[in-house]
Amino acid sequence: MNPRNAGEIENADGVGEVGNPVCGDMMTFYIRVDQGRLSEIKFKTFGCGVAIAVSSMVSEMALGRAVGEALQISKEDVAERLGGLPSEKMHCSNLGADALRRAIHDYLDRQGNTKEDSVEHSAQGAQDRILERSLLDDDVLVKLILEEKRKKNAVILVHNYQRPDIQDIGDFVGDSLGLALKASETDMDVIVFCGVHFMAETAAILNPDRIVLLPEIRAGCPMADMAPVEAVRRAKELHPNAVVVSYVNTTAAVKAESDYCCTSSNAVRVTREVEGEEILFLPDRNLAAYVAKHVPEKRIIPWDGYCHVHQDITVKDVMEVLANHPGAEIIAHPECTEEVLSVADHIRSTSGMVAAALESSADEFVVATEAGMVYPLRRAVPNKSFYPTANEPLCPNMKLITLSKVLLALENLEPRVTVPEDVRVRALLPVERMLSL
Ligand code: 13P
Ligand code: SF4
Repeated sequence: MNPRNAGEIENADGVGEVGNPVCGDMMTFYIRVDQGRLSEIKFKTFGCGVAIAVSSMVSEMALGRAVGEALQISKEDVAERLGGLPSEKMHCSNLGADALRRAIHDYLDRQGNTKEDSVEHSAQGAQDRILERSLLDDDVLVKLILEEKRKKNAVILVHNYQRPDIQDIGDFVGDSLGLALKASETDMDVIVFCGVHFMAETAAILNPDRIVLLPEIRAGCPMADMAPVEAVRRAKELHPNAVVVSYVNTTAAVKAESDYCCTSSNAVRVTREVEGEEILFLPDRNLAAYVAKHVPEKRIIPWDGYCHVHQDITVKDVMEVLANHPGAEIIAHPECTEEVLSVADHIRSTSGMVAAALESSADEFVVATEAGMVYPLRRAVPNKSFYPTANEPLCPNMKLITLSKVLLALENLEPRVTVPEDVRVRALLPVERMLSL
């Protein structure tokens, strides 16, 4: 195979690198930008033939496009252009799209643009740009959303990393566990889930008779994609005595293969309380290491996945901010690396961070997680100060949802997230076990 655009660009304007430790695929994209367009793209890929074909396709799709436009290339777009990919190979197209996005973010960072700006461009498809322009201001959008929400008898559930304007329209804003609990309690006809795909899927697992909307269907979680169901089945065969504990950041198909589900707020408790000495813990290796440290009586077999947003936070990024606020305490999410966790004063889920800030006597906090978390923290604890880490990490997927997409979703009752009934029934058990603990 001699894929087009294979190679390297010396002194590239942006470089993006991703790897999937589960299957060993590694991709590096190099881009050159001329007058806002991708004028040259090269890639180096180590891995299977599909990973190479994906890299080749991504580079061809992006070449010549405007930077903001290229940011919108999704794993589904890539798979479609390749004539479809089997589900177990979808992670390859996800890696390709992600590597390109990283190269573009790198370029934008070097230009001094904020990541928010770039996300803003990527998040707005043509349809909602037209809608936003015609409606002009957000107040009108919010009014229409509230009207439509009432008409459709809908509840809006929002994750803590969502954009501030989305958090402001939420009936409930919280972490994965809080959102799953709210989804399990609702009696509304429609759930509008402002988060990422696995979260909406969890709501759908709990609510087979309700409509679950994800206003931007491409909002996925790369870490969840690092545990393809076929690989999980193979791992179960290799460890037949292990209890499978899945972080909620997994697909419904993987939940259906699991014994228990957990979130960052109850991973230690769930692992401690399950019967069995050996635990196959997936997909986050950082959370697995954190759990292993707190549950030494069990043998934890970690999956080799990670969240790129948290993996990118370094101790230096934390210390740089601490240097300017020497009295601050450090609150970290357990998806961070062991090194970052080792310097943290509090290790909590996103909503747990709010509780930690309320309980602590400190007035200032460095927050080692997705940078958007400072908004709910400042809202809930207005008398204290919160600072993101120096690298200002953003989850591009979380930022894909905009007010106009929420309105369109409510008007059209699309895009919906559904789970095939046979999968749903099997996935329900580990989710219910988690909620009942
Ligand atoms: P929380 O459950 O702590 O909100 O975390 C969800 C998530 O995706 C973190 O990256
Ligand atoms: Fe997934 Fe990380 Fe984004 Fe959370 S922050 S949704 S784990 S990619």
